[in-house]
Amino acid sequence: MSARLPVVVGNWKMHLSLDEAVTLARDVAERAPGGVEVGVAPSAPYLGAVAQALRGSRVGLSAQDTHWEAAGAFTGEASPAQLKGVGCRYVIIGHSERRQLFGETDAGVAKKARAAHDHGLTPILCVGETLAEREAGRTLAVTLGQLDAAFSALRPEEAAASICAYEPVWAIGTGRTATPEQAQEVHRAIRARLAERFGAGVAAQVRLQYGGSVKADNAAALMAQPDIDGALVGGASLKAAGFLDILRAASQGARLP
Ligand code: 13P
Repeated sequence: MSARLPVVVGNWKMHLSLDEAVTLARDVAERAPGGVEVGVAPSAPYLGAVAQALRGSRVGLSAQDTHWEAAGAFTGEASPAQLKGVGCRYVIIGHSERRQLFGETDAGVAKKARAAHDHGLTPILCVGETLAEREAGRTLAVTLGQLDAAFSALRPEEAAASICAYEPVWAIGTGRTATPEQAQEVHRAIRARLAERFGAGVAAQVRLQYGGSVKADNAAALMAQPDIDGALVGGASLKAAGFLDILRAASQGARLP
C-alpha cells in the first residue's frame, strides 16, 4: 500500500465571531505540527480574513460548500472560481447537514466534485449513513451509493487527488463516535469500491477521513486504522488546544513515505 499523508480539516460550520475565527486560524497556523496536512473551513463570510491569517503557513483554507457553475445568477451561492480566488485549497462537498437540511442530492455532489477539480480545488467528498439506515443493515449500500455518485464525473487522476470523508450521521455532534473497528470496516469497503472503479493504484492514493465526534482522546485510535487517513473535525476544531492535540495524534500516527 502506498503511503498517504494524513489530512485533518476543521469544519467550523456556522460557528465563531470574526475575531474568534481569525484568532483560532492564527493559533492553528503558528502551532500546527509537521507530518500532517491541515485545513480549516470557516463560514463563507470569513474566508478572506482567515486566508490572511493563514498566509505563509502550511494550513490550507477550505470552503464548506460550492456551487458547480463558475459564475451566474445564483443568489446566495459562491462559485468554485470565487473560492479559489479568495485562497481556498479545499472544499467540503455533500456534508450530511447539506444533504439533510438543504436538499443536497447525489447529482449535485457529482457536479460540484467535477467543478472543484476544474477550478483547482481539492474536494472533500462526504458520505455516510443515518442511524435508521445503519440499523436497517444498509450502511454499506447507502455509503457506497453516495461514493459512486460523488466520484462519477472524475477521471482516475482526479479521483486519486480527492479526499473522501466517511461521516456516519449518527456520530456527528452526538458525542457518539464510531468505534475504530466500525469506522475501519466502512473505510475498507470504500477503498475496495474505489479500487473496483479506478484500479488499486488510484484507490491506494485517495485519503479517507473519518468524521463524527472526533476528539483528542479518540483520534489516535481511529487514525491507527489502516484505511483511516485523517479526520474531518467539527466541534473539537473550535478550540485551538483540542484541535492541535488531534493534529499531533494524526502526525504521530503518520505513515510517511
Ligand atoms: P462533530 O465533530 O462535531 O461531530 O462534527 C463532525 C462533522 O460534521 C465534521 O464535518
